[in-house]
Amino acid sequence: MRGIEELDVGGHAVLLRADLNVPRDGARITDDGRIRASLPTITDLTGRGGRVIICAHLGRPSGGSYEERAAGGPSLAPVAVRLGELLGNQVRMAEDAAGKSAEAVAAGLRDGEVALLENVRFEPTETSKDDAKRSELAARLAALAQLYVGDGFGALHRKHASVYDVPGLLPHAAGKLVLAEVDVLRRLTRDPDRPYVVVLGGAKPSDKLAVIANLLDKADRLIIGGGMSYTFLAARGHEVGRSLLEADQLDRVSGLMAEAGRRGVEIVLPVDLVGATHFAADAEHEVFPVAGFPADRESMDMGPETRALFASKLADARTVFWNGPVGVFEFPAFAAGTLAVAQAISRVQGLTVVGGGDSAAAVRQLGFPEGAFGHISTGGGASLEYLEGASLPGLAALEASA
Ligand code: 3PG
Ligand code: MG
Repeated sequence: MRGIEELDVGGHAVLLRADLNVPRDGARITDDGRIRASLPTITDLTGRGGRVIICAHLGRPSGGSYEERAAGGPSLAPVAVRLGELLGNQVRMAEDAAGKSAEAVAAGLRDGEVALLENVRFEPTETSKDDAKRSELAARLAALAQLYVGDGFGALHRKHASVYDVPGLLPHAAGKLVLAEVDVLRRLTRDPDRPYVVVLGGAKPSDKLAVIANLLDKADRLIIGGGMSYTFLAARGHEVGRSLLEADQLDRVSGLMAEAGRRGVEIVLPVDLVGATHFAADAEHEVFPVAGFPADRESMDMGPETRALFASKLADARTVFWNGPVGVFEFPAFAAGTLAVAQAISRVQGLTVVGGGDSAAAVRQLGFPEGAFGHISTGGGASLEYLEGASLPGLAALEASA
């Protein structure tokens, strides 16, 4: 895969696909990690006189037409403002994703300047499964520039026009973020130091069963916490009350636990839970052992014995991959589990990787410095699919020559 140093960008328009899909509260950006992670590639390109036209998505706009989607939002305008602050230079914002305004902004850029196109998912065909529909949009995007740089690691698992089709139309290279992320993931899949411990949290086991199946070949221990652990506990016959449960996944989860047992991979599940009366920051809550969880409570966090258990199962690790918070860390009363996992991982001697937008935002919100972990990945879905052994469409497109 070619890196950007192999592109002669001076005086040329470069279409840079970045992942600027930041968590927000209304129009306010609550974690700008993905914007910061995009800076090294942007400043490298501008420093060499490139004219950088950034293409990115935000959220999952809905609606049948461009107009409907644009009216519903979200617009990337607040991201352009934040990016400009971080760069110390104004970022011009196009009013559309690949239309007249995008053309005018791209044509007006001078060497070393940066522009941001409007949310590419306002274009309904960006995410289309129909190759011909995506191609039409890809051609409009490619016409804005002479070169393409793929640096949106978090979106590489999407077969979308701006991620998968445009690199086929322009000379292209992978940005610094993509190369750094892929390098770390390769180290996790090729001969990791042992014990290799994987911590999985987040809401749904269905999103992660494929990666778990693949990890049974590679990891020594799987710690499962948070929203997805309740389906595992239920599969072992425990009452989980009104906690998150994917009832249609119980059989698959039981099958995976049996397979883990056959292969000697240890699966670690919570032993106590923080059960709340309802989902709210100030909900009344108590700790219950998993063997005695009440039918009318909802688990929002890991209990103290689980926190100690998880920490002890991380203490001897030499390689760790963590994806997904293990409690509702956004509410301070339910952040102890995620904090305990982050602390235990930060003490590990070896390669530690925190993967995914939510876990990355969690460790920053909980006050961990960047250096507390070996690598904080900007891509949850993308890193999981890589670890699953799947081919990422955006990566395949960057690897193909053009
Ligand atoms: C992400 O946030 O996971 C990436 O930006 C991809 O977004 P998506 O999950 O909406 O495709
Ligand atoms: Mg996602």
